[in-house]
Amino acid sequence: MSSGKATASAPANIAFVKYWGARDPARALPLAPSISMTLERCRSRTTVVPLPASRAGDADEVLRRGPRGELEPAPERFAARVWRHLDALRDWAAGGEGAGAARPRFRVATENSFPAAAGLASSASGFAALATAVAAALGRDPLGDPGRGGLGRAELSSLARRSGSGSAARSVLGGYVEWPSEAAGGDDDDPRAAEIAPAAHWLLADVIALVEEAPKTVSSLDGHRLAPTSPHFARRLAELPGRLDEVRAAIRERDLGRLGPVLEEEAVELHLIAMTSRPPIFYWRPGTLAVLEEVRAVRAPGSGLAAWATMDAGANVHVVCPAEEAGEVAARLARLPEVRSVIEDRVGDGPALHDEHLI
Ligand code: DP6
Repeated sequence: MSSGKATASAPANIAFVKYWGARDPARALPLAPSISMTLERCRSRTTVVPLPASRAGDADEVLRRGPRGELEPAPERFAARVWRHLDALRDWAAGGEGAGAARPRFRVATENSFPAAAGLASSASGFAALATAVAAALGRDPLGDPGRGGLGRAELSSLARRSGSGSAARSVLGGYVEWPSEAAGGDDDDPRAAEIAPAAHWLLADVIALVEEAPKTVSSLDGHRLAPTSPHFARRLAELPGRLDEVRAAIRERDLGRLGPVLEEEAVELHLIAMTSRPPIFYWRPGTLAVLEEVRAVRAPGSGLAAWATMDAGANVHVVCPAEEAGEVAARLARLPEVRSVIEDRVGDGPALHDEHLI
């Protein structure tokens, strides 16, 4: 691949087994493995343009699609996270911290396919797209096989993780993904993700019920840092190996009746740990409970529907169901007064490169 302007898109993902609690939250070094399903429609799309060497001393420029639909200079906090990730990617490209001469500056433009005000986490998709686009802009083939000169997804997941967002490490692969995974190589200081099964293996939907549009009040970073202060955290770590086995087997066998209860147990436990951290973190809103109750009603015996709920570090509820039932489940959730809007998404194939650029 030649180097130069590159555009990549990458999807969000929904965790079946949560990443919650880190040995080193800033470097996204988790205390336990997590498993997720990569989505299809909720995506970030990012263009990076290497700046000429004459501008080596300048800061990277970061543009973001704003509420009026225009690309605008990103707010300082957002730009700062992008700069940090770009620095980590430059270190990687230069072969070590501060080493080498090749430390290009970039112009970056990014947008999300889902509304910014939807309260959905965009860091996983955003940093997965940024890592993919930067690798391509530096002349590497980010989505190609290592055997054929490509970077390989294991290394790409490492690059996405260096943003500090662990979930971004999972968004560079499609289908059902585990991170860290022994199958991906890596080590404790460089955890990498691997696919458990491709998207086509099992067509599940994620119907997202939005009950909160404001950004979350406590970052995942603080959540990871505080998790070990919960008296429930040690027990969770002890129980996780069994739960991970159960989820791997349920995916392998396409058994939603087996996956569903573990999915809900995991989501409730993440929030139990958050609520019992010192100091405590509360993400749930009244609408969260209203959706959880409706999900139980949806799958009541005799309904013929299977739907199971999970939540990330926020109030919105992700309802996992067979793809062919998504329309009916979405219509049921949309009727609740607490639900502001519903996004119907489904399992997808992961990141892609594009010829059409944002800038
Ligand atoms: C609750 O540190 O990856 O979503 O950078 O905010 O996306 P962000 O968070 P990250 O932690 C993810 C926390 C989680 C669970 C999960 O996705 O595994």
